[in-house]
Amino acid sequence: MLRLGDILKTIREEKGLQLSEVQQQTGIDMSQLSRFETGKRLPTVEQLDLLSALYQIDSSLLRIERESDRIITSFDDPELGLKSLEVAKEKLTQGQKYLNMFRDSNLAEPLGLSSRRYIGSKAKLVDWIYETIAEETNDIHSFCDIFAGTGVVAERAVQLYDNVILNDLLYSNNVIYKAFFAPGEWNREKLCDIITGYNALDPDRIQPNYFSDNFGGKFFEESEAKRIGYIRQDIENRRHSLTEKEYAVLIGTLIYNIDKIANTLGHFEAYIQKPISHKPLYLKLIEARTVPGIQIYREDANQLARHIHTDLVYIDPPYNSRQYSRFYHVYETLVKWDYPDLFGVAMKPAPENMSDYCSNRAGAAMLDLVQHLDCHYIAVSYNNTYKSKSSSSENKIQLEELRNILETVGPTTVHEHKHRAFNAGKTDFKDHKEYLFITTVND
Ligand SMILES: C[S@@+](CC[C@H](N)C(=O)[O-])C[C@H]1O[C@@H](n2cnc3c(N)ncnc32)[C@H](O)[C@@H]1O
Repeated sequence: MLRLGDILKTIREEKGLQLSEVQQQTGIDMSQLSRFETGKRLPTVEQLDLLSALYQIDSSLLRIERESDRIITSFDDPELGLKSLEVAKEKLTQGQKYLNMFRDSNLAEPLGLSSRRYIGSKAKLVDWIYETIAEETNDIHSFCDIFAGTGVVAERAVQLYDNVILNDLLYSNNVIYKAFFAPGEWNREKLCDIITGYNALDPDRIQPNYFSDNFGGKFFEESEAKRIGYIRQDIENRRHSLTEKEYAVLIGTLIYNIDKIANTLGHFEAYIQKPISHKPLYLKLIEARTVPGIQIYREDANQLARHIHTDLVYIDPPYNSRQYSRFYHVYETLVKWDYPDLFGVAMKPAPENMSDYCSNRAGAAMLDLVQHLDCHYIAVSYNNTYKSKSSSSENKIQLEELRNILETVGPTTVHEHKHRAFNAGKTDFKDHKEYLFITTVND
C-alpha cells in the first residue's frame, strides 16, 4: 500500500537530494529520515513542515498523507475501516444532524404506506374492515378501493385478492400508489445513491426557490423548504434518466419524508403559529414494491364506476365540506410542479379537484355511484360527526339516508366500531362511531 514514506522518498529523489543533504538542511537525524521513508515511523507535524519547506511542496498535502496513514494503520479490518471512513465523513459534514440521520436510518420504522398522516385514514380499522367483509361476503377475487386516500385499505386487499383497483382524485395520492404498488422497472441502488446526494445537500449553498419562497417559514423551516424545492426540481431535471416507477418512488419518498417534518397537525389548511423547531430533512426510501395486475386511476369515482367491474367495491368518501384537495394542496403543488400562483395565509392554489361529496350534492352523488357500480358487494365506511359544533364538520349524508341509498341496490347490513378521529378541537367525540355498511347487490 502506498504510504507517506513512499511519497517522501519519491519527492527527495525527484529533487536529486541525498538523505545526508536533507539532514543538513532540516536538522532531522538521517536514521529518522530513513525510518520515515521506509514507513517504520511517521514524522511529527513540525518535522513534516520542515520537509515540505525543503521540498517546496504544500505542507497541507503532506499532512493529509500523514493523517491518512495514521487512520489506515489504526484499522485491523480493512472493510470495517472503509465503512468507518464513510461514517467519519458524514459526521464531519453533517455535524449535529448526524444524530438524526442515525436515528432515522437505524431506529425508525421503515417508511411503509401507513406511516403517513392523513385525515380519515383507516389504518387503524383495516383488520376490522376485512373481518367484517369476510363474515358478510363470499368468493371475492377482485377489489376496488374507489376513494383510496392513503391506500391502506387497498394495501391489505393486495395480499388477499387477485386483482385490485385503486382510485383517488388527488395527484399526490396517485403518484404514491404508483410508487408503492405499480409494476415497472426500477433500481433501488440507483435511487439510494440519488437520495444519499440529497441528504448531503447543504441548505446554505442552495438558492431560494419556488417552494421556499411560498412555504418556507410557514409549513417548513426556511432551510428545509429550500432543500425540498431543490430536490423536487432535481427529480424533474433527471426525469429523462428515470423510469416511470423510479420517478414515482422519488416523489413518493419526498412526500413521505416531508410529512415527518411539516409544521402542521397533519394537513395544510393551516400551519402551527409558533417558531418552527429544527427538524432537518433526512430522506429515507419508502417501502416500494411492484404488484402485477394492479390498476391505478385518478378519476372522479362516479365516472370510474361506469367502466370497471370487481367483485367488491369499497367506498370511503369524504362526508363533510372539507375538501381533500385543499387539505393536501402543498403535496398537489409539489407533485404537479407547475408553479401555480398561491393565495391566502395557507398559500393555496386556485381550487381544483373539488369533490361533490363535500357539497350538498353528496347524497345524489352517492346514489348515482352505487347505482352505476358493476359488482357483487359494496362496502361503505361511514363515520358520524354530525353532532359536531363546527359546521364544516357536519356530515353531508346522514346515516339513515346512506342506508336508504344502499338498500336501492340490495340488502344491507350495518356494523359499528368505536373510533377516535381527526379533531380540530371543537368537536365532542364521545359518541363518535365508525360504521361499515355491507350491501349484497341484487342480480
Ligand atoms: C376519507 S378519504 C379516504 C381514506 C382512505 N380510506 C384511507 O384509509 O386512507 C376520502 C378520499 O376520497 C378522495 N375523493 C374525494 N372525492 C372523490 C371523488 N369524487 N372521486 C375520487 N376520489 C375522491 C379524497 O381525495 C380522499 O383521499
